Amino acid sequence: MALRVAVIGLGGIGRNHARIYSAHPKAELVGVCDILRDRADTAAQTHQVPAYYEMERMLAELHPDVVSVATAGVENGGDHFAPTMAALRAGAHVLCEKPLSNSLTEAQEMVAEARRLDRCLAVDLNHRFSPATEMAKQHQEAGDLGHLLFVRTYLWIGNRKESAPYFHLRALHSHSVDVMRYFGGEVSEVQAMFAKGPGREIWSNAVINLRFAGGALGQLLGSYDMGGSHDIEQTLLAGTAGELLISNSTCDLTWYPHGKDAQAQHIHQAGGQKSFGETMGRRLGRFVDQVAAGARPTEIEGSGAEALQAQAVVDAAIRSHESGGALVRLQDVLGGSAGR
Ligand SMILES: NC(=O)c1ccc[n+]([C@@H]2O[C@H](COP(=O)([O-])OP(=O)(O)OC[C@H]3O[C@@H](n4cnc5c(N)ncnc54)[C@H](O)[C@@H]3O)[C@@H](O)[C@H]2O)c1
Repeated sequence: MALRVAVIGLGGIGRNHARIYSAHPKAELVGVCDILRDRADTAAQTHQVPAYYEMERMLAELHPDVVSVATAGVENGGDHFAPTMAALRAGAHVLCEKPLSNSLTEAQEMVAEARRLDRCLAVDLNHRFSPATEMAKQHQEAGDLGHLLFVRTYLWIGNRKESAPYFHLRALHSHSVDVMRYFGGEVSEVQAMFAKGPGREIWSNAVINLRFAGGALGQLLGSYDMGGSHDIEQTLLAGTAGELLISNSTCDLTWYPHGKDAQAQHIHQAGGQKSFGETMGRRLGRFVDQVAAGARPTEIEGSGAEALQAQAVVDAAIRSHESGGALVRLQDVLGGSAGR
């Protein structure tokens, strides 16, 4: 039987969620909700499902198996807390948009509540679901990198919105830090420098250095001043046995095995971040497939707990920047509860 899915928040992203669930064979879209009536009504008409303007009413009447939270708010995450908590408490598994929240405390509460209620909590960390990125992971697991030494990523786009000072960090780098953690594992220390691009009031550029608990070093370059870049996202993984380069906005993978006779292998995987619908469809589809197959909350890929760790890295970078580039230990940012 198909999972009954409801979507809260019907801006551009929530409309994508509704479209993806409607097309998924193991999902049935049963309702849509937005406090803006016209948004709820339009989506309801498109998908022939009931429209709601209050999430509590929708949750009480429909009892969905899965709820997608596609609200936004301050730093694109400030409005996620209330719908996520309400949906979990109504018994649903939840897929929340990124960042999980713009507040680390709230993100920790969301992860803790999902654990307490034994519900699956996933986050739309769709960049790790690009085909090239997944294939790089398979190479890593097959030992093609040897011992991982470096993870170097850039993610840069154009976004001229002048909102909160750390909007660029919190709204965008949930993605890049998640991809770096996907390959490098837990982060133990963070050091960062931020800069403002020409004419900007917010910290629109960043360099963030990471130390992974497993011993590798990482570096992230990020920007909201790179509109029109030919390649918005790239990750180089360098190890003792070879290198893997995910490039061309996560569409291409090149494997450079070490050794003088070794031949580089270049693989074009598909849309990646050049095709929003593809990675988002793959990510939401994976969540539906996992929940439909009865996955335990701890088995969910791109989980709330993982998003919380990525968010803590971003908060550590902000703390480092505010203290003139000091080294910040992740455990000091997460406090007593590591949120896992
Ligand atoms: N995963 C990705 O690649 C990706 C890309 C872009 C944006 N996003 C994320 O998607 C989210 C949504 O982005 P958007 O551009 O569609 O935002 P948006 O502001 O256009 O839409 C959010 C909608 O949520 C509604 N809303 C807010 N609180 C609500 C509530 N309590 N109940 C019902 N409706 C409520 C608003 O009325 C609004 O229509 C953001 O968190 C953003 O960070 C993700």
